[in-house]
Formats: sequence, structure tokens, C-alpha cells
Amino acid sequence: MARISRPTTNRLDQVSTARARVAASVLDADLGNLANAVKRAEREGTDRIHLDVMDGHFVPNLTFGAKTIKALRRRTRIPFDAHLMIANPGKYIDEYLDAGCDSVTIHVEIDEPIEPTLREIRAAGRAAGLCVKPKTPLSALEPYQRLIDIVMVMTVEPGFGGQSFMTDVARAKLLAARKYLAHKLHGGEVHVDGGVNRDTAELVGGQGVDILVVGSALWLKGRDMAREIRLIRALADEGYQYQLNGGVPPIPRDRMVTFGTLRRMQARQLREEVEAAGIPVLLFRSVEDPADMDDETRRWDLLIPASAEGAAMERFAGRRGELEQAAGPLGEPSAGQPPA
Ligand code: DX5
Ligand code: ZN
Repeated sequence: MARISRPTTNRLDQVSTARARVAASVLDADLGNLANAVKRAEREGTDRIHLDVMDGHFVPNLTFGAKTIKALRRRTRIPFDAHLMIANPGKYIDEYLDAGCDSVTIHVEIDEPIEPTLREIRAAGRAAGLCVKPKTPLSALEPYQRLIDIVMVMTVEPGFGGQSFMTDVARAKLLAARKYLAHKLHGGEVHVDGGVNRDTAELVGGQGVDILVVGSALWLKGRDMAREIRLIRALADEGYQYQLNGGVPPIPRDRMVTFGTLRRMQARQLREEVEAAGIPVLLFRSVEDPADMDDETRRWDLLIPASAEGAAMERFAGRRGELEQAAGPLGEPSAGQPPA
């Protein structure tokens, strides 16, 4: 992908955080003391908690349900990703939403309508995910593409922690999964679940994964969990920059970049249009103009998340040009209304 040159006038351009994130699965923690496990993972620096719900039908194992998640929700504010390995999520979805899950991912292999459940998750303002088992092709996601925020790829057969990572599945699906999030200009996520640890993190990072679900590797006796989380994140970022980004450090997810510089009226217009497409925009008085310059005459910078820059360029570069024209050359008084 070509790199986009841009002015670096704003200090927010320099803010950076790591790209790949870890969701700690508590499946292999002490299930007799789940609240402690969740609080420990949070203290040790996990980005999310991944909650594996199993019903003994869809998978040959049984764990916990919405009531347990609701009880855990009271103990921490860290985001909860629910992974429902159950045959009838439609029947119980209200309970999982009520329990306070921030995202709910269901399986595409179930024998009941999928669409209503995805819609319900989204209507509740949560992220909706679809998960594929190792043998399920990604193309199974096609009918639901526009309804999903998360694609979760299983790299073990679901049901148990501690199994070995399926490298061939990872190579075949992880990078390709991104295609199913093309409708999301910002905030779509690929999750990888199963067998992720320090030996496999670099490979999955190199496939552009956003969220690494890590279970058993965090709960080994005597393991320094905080170090393991940092190590896995760093290895994933290393894989990303080595394989996907030509040695350029991974795009930090919440770093902001300047997308355009316009007069106030046009800047507000463009902000409205870009935000309507799902990309958050910040407006700042441009540092290019004197601090005491009048707000209507001066220039304003539009800042957007770096991760959405490519999509914004594709969709809005033309519109930005039009609005620039409408304002007349910068540095001169504004020429009135933005074009419709
Ligand atoms: C397996 C679960 C996974 C599991 C991952 O069915 O969906 O989330 O906890 O555990 P590890 O990392 O041990 O493979
Ligand atoms: Zn899981």
C-alpha cells in the first residue's frame, strides 16, 4: 500500500499506542474464582476479557452463562468480548446484552437464523461478531457482511483451551478476513482465537490481526502474565511491520492524523460527511495561522484516526478538494456557502 504524505503540524500526530491488542480468555483460569481471574488479567495489562460460553451442544464442553458474566461485570470496567459457542444464541441474546458484554460473537455454523441476532446486538449499541470454525470457509460470512463489526477466526477446534495452533488455517484466513469488514471505514476487528502464544503471535500479527485471544499461555503456573501480554503484543506488532508494512511501525490505532485543512464552515461540513460514514473527526484551529486570527477566517485542521486514513482518502479526497475550492484560496476571506 502506498504511504500517504501529510503535513505534521499537530501534536496529536505524535501520540501513539500499540496496534495489536490482547483479549485474555479466562477458560483456563481457576473457574472457581473467576472474579479474581478477571481482575488479575486486568491488573496485568490485558486490553479485554474474552469470555467463552459453551452449551455442551454446539461444542462438547460446558462453561458459564450470562448470569456469571453479569456478576463479573460488576467487578471491573474492562471491555468484555463474549464468544458464544452455543447452538441457540437467538434465544438468549437479550441476557448476554443485559449482562453488559461490549461485543458478542456468535458462530456462523449454527442452525438458526443469524441475521436477527446480529441486528439485535447492534441495536443495543454493542459490536456484533461472527466466528468461523477451522473447517468453515470465510465465504460463509458473505450473507451477513454488512452486519458484522468483528470477524473471529478459530485456529483450534472450539471447546477447549490449550490445543495447538493451526498454522495453515491462520495463513489461509486471517488476512483474507479483513475483506469482510470492508464496509467498516473505522473500527472493524479481526480476532484470532486458539493456540495464540509467544510462538505464534508474530505470525498472526503478520496477518494483520487486531485482537489476539490468549488463553492457556497466560495461566501457566509461575508465569509472569504482565510480561507475557507485553511480549505477545510486541511480537504481533513486529510481525505486522515486518510482513505487512515494509518496516514502518504499525499504525497505532488511536493516533490521529491531519486529513485536511479548511476554513471553519467548510471544515464543519466535511466533518459532518466523514462522521456520517463512521469515521470520528476532531477539529482544531490550525497552528499555521496566527493564534489571534478570527475563527471564521483562519484555517482549521480535521484530524481522523490513522487507521481510517486510507478509507477516508478513497471516499473523501474529492469532496475535500471541492470544499477547498469553495472557500477560495486559503489565506483570503471565505467565499461563502459550501456546495451541496
Ligand atoms: C476455545 C476457546 C478459546 C480458548 C483459547 O474453544 O474459544 O478462547 O480459551 O485458549 P488457548 O489460548 O489455550 O488456545
Ligand atoms: Zn473463545
